Amino acid sequence: MSDTENSPAKTRPISGTENSWCKAASGGTGITILSLLLIKQPNFTLLHNSLHKLQLSHPILRSKLHFNSLSSTFSLLIPSSSTLRLTHHDFQSTAKIIQSNPPSSDPTTTFQILLEHELNTNPWENLDRSSISCSVDVLHASVYEIDEVGKWAVMIKVHTGVCDRTAAVALLKELTGLMKSSNGGGDLGESGGIKEREVSLGVEEYIPSGKMSKPFWSRGVDMLGYSLNSFRLSNLEFVDPDSRRSSRVVRLMLDSDHTSKLLEGCKTRGIKLCGALSAAALIAARASKSLPDGEWEKYAVVTLIDCRKLLEPALSSHHVGFYHSAILNTHDMKGSEELWDLARRTYSSFEDAKNSNKHFSDMADLNFLMCRAIENPGLTPSSSLRTSFISVFEDPVIDETNENYEELGIEDCMGCASTHGVGPSIAIFDTIRQNKLDCACVYPFPLHSRKQMQDLIDNMKKILIDC
Ligand SMILES: *[C@@H]1O[C@H](CO)[C@@H](O)[C@H](O)[C@H]1NC(C)=O
Repeated sequence: MSDTENSPAKTRPISGTENSWCKAASGGTGITILSLLLIKQPNFTLLHNSLHKLQLSHPILRSKLHFNSLSSTFSLLIPSSSTLRLTHHDFQSTAKIIQSNPPSSDPTTTFQILLEHELNTNPWENLDRSSISCSVDVLHASVYEIDEVGKWAVMIKVHTGVCDRTAAVALLKELTGLMKSSNGGGDLGESGGIKEREVSLGVEEYIPSGKMSKPFWSRGVDMLGYSLNSFRLSNLEFVDPDSRRSSRVVRLMLDSDHTSKLLEGCKTRGIKLCGALSAAALIAARASKSLPDGEWEKYAVVTLIDCRKLLEPALSSHHVGFYHSAILNTHDMKGSEELWDLARRTYSSFEDAKNSNKHFSDMADLNFLMCRAIENPGLTPSSSLRTSFISVFEDPVIDETNENYEELGIEDCMGCASTHGVGPSIAIFDTIRQNKLDCACVYPFPLHSRKQMQDLIDNMKKILIDC
């Protein structure tokens, strides 16, 4: 490898979708964090080596996001070798971080405070407002020593534009696999060498031909529909629209009994979990306002689709990059909705849109609107930068890798991304781990308060259990 070590970085231009994420991340949306809570001290050398191996096999993970201030464009610089440094916070430095992020009255664990701290430490902040060209790594990693309980937190931060949720899950699986299988011999995997994958391209390069285009008039009408709708949309009440925002997390967990009943309920009705989650959230949001029954409100729901299997060629879940697309639907609510009726309604409108390829045909329009909102916050209600009430993923993450977890001493795990720039009022990151539903619900604070969100999520949980 020594002959390539000093060879210059390759440059790869970014795609339209990636460009929107670069702009979003610059303002605080799209900082993905994978967080692990360990009950034994991680082996730093091993962790460091494993991360290096991941960056060798997935070149995009060792790239730097570059902003050229002359042309005002982003690109990826991909060096030939990895230069990742693992940041280590000893217990004093961790304690300082916890002190400066005082938990609110409800039980927030140290692990969650550290997760929020990571979501709000933005290495790409204002990258595109800089007057000098600069570049910042897309991947960062830190270890925190949590004194009082003798635990450790490992946090991996990655730019959403180059690593969507599917890739983040694959990354975590590969990382724990490497840390488990490697016995410290310093060898580079089974075959003695790392197989370097090709640099991934943007999602637009893989859209099946014909599916992205749509008739000129239809495009104009849909765009008008999206932008007119945004003024008629209802939002969760804004508590403080003026102060500087950060991302916070409320966790929604169901035990295995309630989870299996909920999944069974979805299955018998032929709908996916995302339908039930968004319906429960809509009912809880409507109920949080003291409006008379029968008064109509319109809410927007964004459903994120992992397009990998629909692309040409189809991509594996280990293909690192951003390959999600969004479908935006609006739903009229008048109070007194019943969960399964509403879930069927939300899910079928999503399914219809997907069947007519809206996730491909409207991709460019939604990217354009997202960038418009970022550039002109005044186009959104109270300059809140909220573009929908909620975002859900079409499919949950199914995590059954508990053997690795036990051996490595992993006690808890959460994965989510920041939303305090442009985004929804609640972004749901759902995982089913050991048959239990575990959702990280990310919201912008203090636009919404912790109490408001906790109440909403508690109510949502009640609705899901009672059904
Ligand atoms: C940590 O990992 C390194 C490299 O894999 C190995 O050489 C070392 O023995 C390990 N240390 C401990 C304390 O297990």
